[in-house]
Amino acid sequence: MLAIYPGSFDPITLGHLDIIERGCKLFDQVIVAVLRNPNKTPLFTVPERIEQIRRSTPHLSNLEVDSFDGLTINYAKMRHASALLRGLRVLSDFEMELQMAHTNKTLSAQIETVFLATSNEYSFLSSSLVKEIARFGGAIDHLVPKHVAVDIYQCFAKIPPASAQTTNLTPAPDRPKTELLTESLPDRET
Ligand code: PNS
Repeated sequence: MLAIYPGSFDPITLGHLDIIERGCKLFDQVIVAVLRNPNKTPLFTVPERIEQIRRSTPHLSNLEVDSFDGLTINYAKMRHASALLRGLRVLSDFEMELQMAHTNKTLSAQIETVFLATSNEYSFLSSSLVKEIARFGGAIDHLVPKHVAVDIYQCFAKIPPASAQTTNLTPAPDRPKTELLTESLPDRET
């Protein structure tokens, strides 16, 4: 059985990784599908996000990372998926996720949405929160994979905390920093 795990992943967090790892145990194959969304100003480009996810998941042999635009359900149909995988952190996620699941069901009765309860330790975690902490110089290397923390610190041109400085991972290519520092956070993000 093939499941699609769609999302923004700007960037991937340990909460996303938790869902991906558990999804890979439940399904024969999982595709993490990064939405190419022209309406958002992301911190990382889609190729950067794909690379971050790939670097976080070399241990998962039944995982593919891809990108898509348009409707998630159309991408799922195109890939012959049986399920959409989503994580649920808190009650407030539920309303929006249920609406999406119901909408997607009206578009394809064959594709089920499967929710996994996010592990307790990540129930507060979102990409937006990580970006906000990093923006103000806080430590984030316990919230995202180490190489992603390096990428984020580089974006915000902050000196990383000592724990992140000890990693010898290559950061993402340089980018205009003034533009990123004025970026506004999205309303809700996983
Ligand atoms: O990580 P996110 O931002 O919470 O992911 C939301 C996402 C990408 C799953 C959702 O916005 C989506 O599916 N967008 C694609 C457009 C679409 O299919 N819209 C109808 C969903 S009901």
